[in-house]
Amino acid sequence: MHQNHSELLSSPTKPNDDAAILFSKPFHAPREMANLRQVVRGDHAHGDGDFTRSATQRLTEITGAAAALLTTSGSHALELASRLLDLGPGDEVILPSFTFPSAANAIALTGATCVFVDVDMRNGNIDPQQVAEAITPRTKAISVVSYGGVAVDFEAITAIADEHGLAIIEDNAHGLGGAYRGQALGTFGVVGVQSFHDTKNVHCGEGGAILINDVTLLDRAEIMREKGTNRARFLRGQIDKYTWVDIGSSYLLSEYNAAVLDSQLESFTRIQQKRHAIWNSYATRLPSWAADENVRLMDVPADRRHPAHLFFLQTPDHDYQVALLAYLRSLGVFATFHYIPLDSAPAGLKHGRRLRELTQSQSFSDRLVRLPLWAGMRQGQIDRVIEAVSSFHR
Ligand SMILES: Cc1ncc(COP(=O)(O)O)c(C=O)c1O
Repeated sequence: MHQNHSELLSSPTKPNDDAAILFSKPFHAPREMANLRQVVRGDHAHGDGDFTRSATQRLTEITGAAAALLTTSGSHALELASRLLDLGPGDEVILPSFTFPSAANAIALTGATCVFVDVDMRNGNIDPQQVAEAITPRTKAISVVSYGGVAVDFEAITAIADEHGLAIIEDNAHGLGGAYRGQALGTFGVVGVQSFHDTKNVHCGEGGAILINDVTLLDRAEIMREKGTNRARFLRGQIDKYTWVDIGSSYLLSEYNAAVLDSQLESFTRIQQKRHAIWNSYATRLPSWAADENVRLMDVPADRRHPAHLFFLQTPDHDYQVALLAYLRSLGVFATFHYIPLDSAPAGLKHGRRLRELTQSQSFSDRLVRLPLWAGMRQGQIDRVIEAVSSFHR
């Protein structure tokens, strides 16, 4: 039986006492303030300054992407991806129902149709079998997200895309630092998308990036990110004036944000160590409780490296999810659910269609619980989360 999430939404999402353990808390990197001061006192605060260059360099080193452009958000990077692929009315893009609305907005904003398919119950990732079934002569791309940074079955998805001549848009908002069979996440699509929203492992408040894996797209991406102009080439001295050459928008990250992002990326190894230590505590200390309760813990296949972006549990049913979340909140532990399926959402019904009834996306959403996980968590807080979860019994 499916209930909606109103019981959860009506309970507080912010704690009212200091001892409560938040679901997520932005990391503060040591050099942030010094970097910011430099921008405030300097004479270059708009996009594409020194901090943008440095952060971009760090990002391409982490991912191995051929090129990267910082953007104002992950959502905007997804929109840029749709524009780069020239999506428009009559085109179809296949995507999972269980994902963030920005992936669907980026398609719908071009007039193309979202074709929603189901997810694999083991990991919340797009089901390759359903992708194959959803292909029509209008299909132009497949948009995938590695949920929690545990890789999509890229072998299967790439084979389908190659067979039908489709582009892969890789939403890697969760996956910075993750890998599939040794290859960094973010590098499997023609483009990869990063988010630097403050809930992500590395953040600058709001921000994002597009990783350009098909380098033939780089010039056009740079133009589209700069209001459709060739201003970037002008600033590099490659042309003597710039003009409007294509459609575009203003997707450049300001140097204020880039200054913070640069210091976060500089601290990436440290951030990841802290997050992995918490993730490993959950993974090693919860299994016996989970087995007793028929709860499934997130697991990571041997051919994937995850980036400790989130730790989730799958409860036996929706009532258990609601009860566990309420219980944890009563103890000041702010665990939470995640995406509500897009295919049955009001905008999903308007801008998309579904392959069939997507029962797995609904069930995955109805039974998902994510535990607090942020780099600044203290040992006492990690212990409290584990004790609270393990003291819950049906
Ligand atoms: C999977 C996924 N894609 C895209 C986004 C959008 O990123 P942003 O918030 O940077 O626009 C998010 C949300 O943060 C997300 O979780």
